[in-house]
Amino acid sequence: MLFCWFFFVFFACKKINIMNKIRVPDIVRKKKDNKKIVMLTSYDAITARIVDQAGVDIILVGDSLGNVVQGQDTTLPVTIEDMIYHTRLVSRGIKNSHICSDMPFMSYQSSREKAVENAGRLIKEGFAESVKLEITEEYLETIHSINKAGIPVMGHIGLCPQSYHVMGGYKIQGRDKRETKRYIKLAKDTETAGAYSIVLEGIPLELAKEITSSVSIPTIGIGAGPHCDGQVLVINDLVGLHTGKMPKFVKQYVDFRDLMTKAVKSYSADVINSRFPADGNSFSWSN
Ligand code: KIV
Repeated sequence: MLFCWFFFVFFACKKINIMNKIRVPDIVRKKKDNKKIVMLTSYDAITARIVDQAGVDIILVGDSLGNVVQGQDTTLPVTIEDMIYHTRLVSRGIKNSHICSDMPFMSYQSSREKAVENAGRLIKEGFAESVKLEITEEYLETIHSINKAGIPVMGHIGLCPQSYHVMGGYKIQGRDKRETKRYIKLAKDTETAGAYSIVLEGIPLELAKEITSSVSIPTIGIGAGPHCDGQVLVINDLVGLHTGKMPKFVKQYVDFRDLMTKAVKSYSADVINSRFPADGNSFSWSN
């Protein structure tokens, strides 16, 4: 009887969409089922709730917060403490989306022990459900070590923003034959090391297509064309909350910057001209 009751509650919850938490095996299965994966960054609780309720599969707490929240030129100054803090904010109130958190620069590069420890902190203190690492050949063992500790790993290959100085700026990667071969091997090795998915950033669409068909784990593209198993964008770029010129791979869906500017100007004018606060915005002894 108790058993039947359990199944009734379980399927009722599924039906009214309060128990559709997306987990790593669901993400991996999407590739097999030929269903696209939707990933978007968030850095705070309110935005994350909107993204979660809109049905996005994965919320990435990206170290891009260095650029779009902290106003830095690169992601390099972002610390593990920053990532834990923002991951914890995002985790509040998320019901369905999977939460993946970026391992920032120098949180995994110096040793495998340090990598496992910091990945563990993102899970224990930030409530992330997986971690993402920018991968070159040197970090394949690190994926394995983190995975062995019971933490799912998303790899990130191609244009890796933490390698800004090595690349000499943000440059499209994998343009020649030698690089093409290298990235296909790196993607396969990333899967073998235990990653459950791979972000492909800033590579030609032909290379992304080849990588996507060479691995059985999902690829999630940003500036890598339409053939990936999923796509990711930085939320600020999507809603137009940024300054400066956007790269061509971004699609902006609304212009929040313009809307906010207009709202702030209207508020200023209302204050200056004594139109705000009106009676309806004020308290009195009688109501
Ligand atoms: O930090 C980030 O937001 C990212 C995405 C661009 C993939 O790594």
